[in-house]
Amino acid sequence: MKLGRAAGLLFLLQSAVAVTDPTPTGARNEPYTNVTGIVDDHGLCQCSVHLPDNTFPVQKVERLEILIQTLSIRFDQELSKVTQYTKTIEIYEQKIRNVTYKVEAMEKTSVSYTELDFQLVKLEIAEMEKLVTQLKSTLTGSNIVVEQLYEEIRNLSLMVTELESLDKNNILAIRREVVTLRNKLRDCERDRNYTSSSGGSSIPHFPPGTCNHGGILNISQPYVIQLNWRGFAYKYGAWGRDYSPLTPEKDLFWVAPLNPDGRYLEYYRLHRSYDDLLLYKNAKESRIQYGEGSGTTVYRNYMYFNAHGSRDMSKLDLNTNTVVLRKTLPDAAHNNRFSYAGVSWQDMDFAVDENGLWVIYSTEASIGNIVISRLNETTLEVLDTWQTKQYKPSVSNAFIVCGVLYAVRPLNTRKEEIFYTYDTNTGKEGRISITIDKVMETIQSINYSPGDQKLYVYNDAYLLLYNLFFQPFPLL
Ligand SMILES: *[C@@H]1O[C@H](CO)[C@@H](O)[C@H](O)[C@H]1NC(C)=O
Ligand SMILES: *[C@@H]1O[C@H](CO)[C@@H](O)[C@H](O)[C@H]1NC(C)=O
Ligand SMILES: *[C@@H]1O[C@H](CO)[C@@H](O)[C@H](O)[C@H]1NC(C)=O
Ligand SMILES: *[C@@H]1O[C@H](CO)[C@@H](O)[C@H](O)[C@H]1NC(C)=O
Ligand SMILES: *[C@@H]1O[C@H](CO)[C@@H](O)[C@H](O)[C@H]1NC(C)=O
Ligand SMILES: *[C@@H]1O[C@H](CO)[C@@H](O)[C@H](O)[C@H]1NC(C)=O
Repeated sequence: MKLGRAAGLLFLLQSAVAVTDPTPTGARNEPYTNVTGIVDDHGLCQCSVHLPDNTFPVQKVERLEILIQTLSIRFDQELSKVTQYTKTIEIYEQKIRNVTYKVEAMEKTSVSYTELDFQLVKLEIAEMEKLVTQLKSTLTGSNIVVEQLYEEIRNLSLMVTELESLDKNNILAIRREVVTLRNKLRDCERDRNYTSSSGGSSIPHFPPGTCNHGGILNISQPYVIQLNWRGFAYKYGAWGRDYSPLTPEKDLFWVAPLNPDGRYLEYYRLHRSYDDLLLYKNAKESRIQYGEGSGTTVYRNYMYFNAHGSRDMSKLDLNTNTVVLRKTLPDAAHNNRFSYAGVSWQDMDFAVDENGLWVIYSTEASIGNIVISRLNETTLEVLDTWQTKQYKPSVSNAFIVCGVLYAVRPLNTRKEEIFYTYDTNTGKEGRISITIDKVMETIQSINYSPGDQKLYVYNDAYLLLYNLFFQPFPLL
């Protein structure tokens, strides 16, 4: 709207002249040149020209003047319309600013927030949109002023779209969730106050590393931590957190994606803090020759894995990246004989719980059913062995918490179910049903960390984390 009126008028005048000039058609029948030339003594060329016998076109100029006048009046009208629209637009710009403030305020605070407010904002946006469309259809032409107006309108509609996208972010739903969560937190706190004040028979908290609970009650939603550092093609692997009972608060995260063939464990990375892990920062990367399958685990700064192509267990010192011990697991089926459902080469699945190091596997004698052995982590000797009645290739993975094996099977592409338990403390097996949500189709490994009571899950190249909830001991 900054363009002066004079420039606009000039533009109109020019276009008026261009439109009303009658010469091209009128001139065709009138020969205004009949030239005869002579060259004189001095070598100069002389010729006479006969101009057509026309008087000065007063009528044409008159017509032109009248036209300019009408156009000027129309321009004035258009301009006043534009000015009017500008004013309207200014009001709407202010409205948009006001709406933006409102939305921002709504984003920041949940206090003065109501659903009605949001409806109001939406209504205002719709109103503005209507105006913009109206302006677009009304103002056609190639005037620079109009062009500018168009740009402003475009900018306006962009702003409206932006506001709309704010709505699409579902502020309302998020607020509701926050309110729900807040309520849940309050309820939880109240419950805790209740249980802790109602005479300490039931223990509300189960500190990490201890086993004074009655097993898994439920599991949280998955937290997607990141894509593994080698990328999307590395669909097989494992990850977890070292558990060192003497320094349980020490952070050591390990990520061990297998090579894309889903068999060889060749590279792994260590991160000394959770933040480093999240940012793929300060990693210590090492190479092994070779591990097999994604049954790897880490315990007290040593990594345990199935030595490639054998029924041997390897123990690797993470400080020096050297295999300090290699020992055969007696009778263990190997070479992809009884791996898990959907995951190849995981004949041996190492596990850590509050009591130490375990290995989950199968033997020919067990006809493919899961065998659990507790290991002496110093010597890798088998301390004790339990035979279950659960066929290993029909479960997708397993882990051990407080001496209880939990086996997992897929329900569909989005959910798994912890469906089977084997308690090595009592030698009893059991059926439970706890649903685990997953983000991708196949779960390649599950590692339980007693240090934080979380499950570290490798899910088609993604690293997921779950919180476990335990139930109190059943009152007998
Ligand atoms: C040009 O002028 C000559 C004589 O000066 C005349 O004979 C001829 O007709 C004229 N031509 C035209 C096209 O008027
Ligand atoms: C924008 O908000 C200001 C201050 O709240 C108010 O004075 C003004 O009238 C509002 N403008 C519109 C167009 O609603
Ligand atoms: C429209 O927005 C663009 C980018 O934000 C800006 O450069 C331009 O000056 C604006 N046009 C008008 C007419 O306000
Ligand atoms: C629970 O107890 C704590 C302190 O004992 C108190 O600050 C908190 O308000 C209580 N919560 C509820 C919901 O009663
Ligand atoms: C388990 O947790 C999920 C949310 O993760 C919840 O929907 C479900 O109701 C819980 N089940 C039990 C038995 O507490
Ligand atoms: C593991 O083996 C070492 C060395 O033989 C021994 O000192 C230790 O007591 C054993 N641990 C268990 C739990 O048997």
